[in-house]
Amino acid sequence: MEKTLRVALLFGGVSSEHDVSCVSAQTFMDALLADGGYTVYPIYIDRAGRWFLYEGDVKHLAKAPQGEYRIAVAVKPGLRENALVTISASGETTLVTDVVIPVLHGLNGEDGTVQGLLELARIPYVGCGVLASAVSMDKVFTKKIVDHLGIRQADYVDLNRREIRENPGAAVQKVLAKFPEFPVFVKPSRAGSSVGTTKVHSLEELEPALLKAAAEDRRVLVEEYVDGREVECAVRGEYEPEASNVGEILAAAEFYDYEAKYANADSRTVIPADIEDSIREEIRHDAVEIFKAVDGWGLARVDFFIRRSDNRVFFNEINTFPGFTPISMWPMLWADKGTPVSGQIRLLIESALEREPLYGA
Ligand SMILES: Nc1ncnc2c1ncn2[C@@H]1O[C@H](COP(=O)(O)OP(=O)(O)O)[C@@H](O)[C@H]1O
Ligand SMILES: [Mg+2]
Repeated sequence: MEKTLRVALLFGGVSSEHDVSCVSAQTFMDALLADGGYTVYPIYIDRAGRWFLYEGDVKHLAKAPQGEYRIAVAVKPGLRENALVTISASGETTLVTDVVIPVLHGLNGEDGTVQGLLELARIPYVGCGVLASAVSMDKVFTKKIVDHLGIRQADYVDLNRREIRENPGAAVQKVLAKFPEFPVFVKPSRAGSSVGTTKVHSLEELEPALLKAAAEDRRVLVEEYVDGREVECAVRGEYEPEASNVGEILAAAEFYDYEAKYANADSRTVIPADIEDSIREEIRHDAVEIFKAVDGWGLARVDFFIRRSDNRVFFNEINTFPGFTPISMWPMLWADKGTPVSGQIRLLIESALEREPLYGA
C-alpha cells in the first residue's frame, strides 16, 4: 500500500477572518478525505492564538469550540525536521508532519509570521513564503512594488498612527493636499476583510475614518476612489506561474465590506467576467507579474478594478491565502478551468514539497 501523506491543517487564528478560515478549512478537509491517501491533523488556532489538536467531528470545523481542548500543539524549531509537538496531560509527543496547510487569512497567518515559524521548524507548507506573505499583507508595501512594475493602481498617501493621533488636523491637511475632493478610501495598511476601511464621502468623515484605520494598524493609507467593477484573477504555480480566467464580484453593498463578503447572499460572483478579451489578457498578465514581483509561490488571488468611465484596469490588492469557502473565487476560477478542488489541493501540496528551504537547498 502506498504511504499516506501526513497533512496538518492549520485553521482559525487571531485575525478578523477567523470564521472565514474555519469555513475555508472545511473545504480542504472534505477534499483531502474524499481524495484519500492523506492522514489529516486538524489544528485549531483559537481567537487568543492558542494551538490545539482538533478532535471533534471533521465535518464541523466551522463550529470549532473555544477552549475545550485536551491536546495543545507547538512548533519547536530545532527539534527535528518535519515535526510538530503535541502536549497533553501525559506529556509531549512528536507529530511527524509531511506538509502544513496554513488555511489562515489575515494577520498572524497570511502575513509571513506562521510561514517563518514553519521555516525554522523545517516543515514544508503550502503557499507563499515569508517575504511574499509579508509584502502582500501590507497594502502600502505592495503598492510600492506595483509602482515599480508600472502597473496602474489608485493613487495614495500613507500616514502613521502617531501622526494621526497626535495631530489629526495636520493628518487631514496632508490628505487634502493630495486629494482635495471626495470620496476617498481610508484603510489600515495591514488588515483584511475590510475591517477598519471606510469610504469617506466628505471632509467631516475623514478624521474619524483615519482614527478608525489607525486603531487597526500602525500604518494607514488613503486612496483615490476608483469607481469600477471588481474583478479577481487566481494565480498558481512556482517559477512559471499561470493565471486563471477573470471573475467578477457583484457586491450587494456600497462597497465589498465584511458583511457583503460573507453574510449578504446578494453578493454574487460571475465567472468568467463579461469583459473584453484585451482587458482579460491585461489582467491575467498583470496578475502573474505581480505574483512574481512579490516572490509568490503556490497560490494567490490578485484583485483589480475596471474603472467604469474608461475601462482602465487598476490593481487593488493581492491575497496570498485567498478564501476557499464554497463561494470563494480562487477555487471556483480553477474549477472553471477544469481542475476540481481536490486536484487544486494536490497541486498546492506538490508545490509545497518542491520549494527549496529559505536557506540552502
Ligand atoms: N480605492 C478604492 N476605490 C473604490 N473602492 C475601493 C477602493 N479600495 C477599496 N475599495 C472597496 O473596498 C473593498 C475592500 O478593500 P480592499 O483593499 O480589497 O481590502 P481588504 O483587504 O479588506 O479586502 C474592496 O473590495 C472595494 O469594494
Ligand atoms: Mg479585498
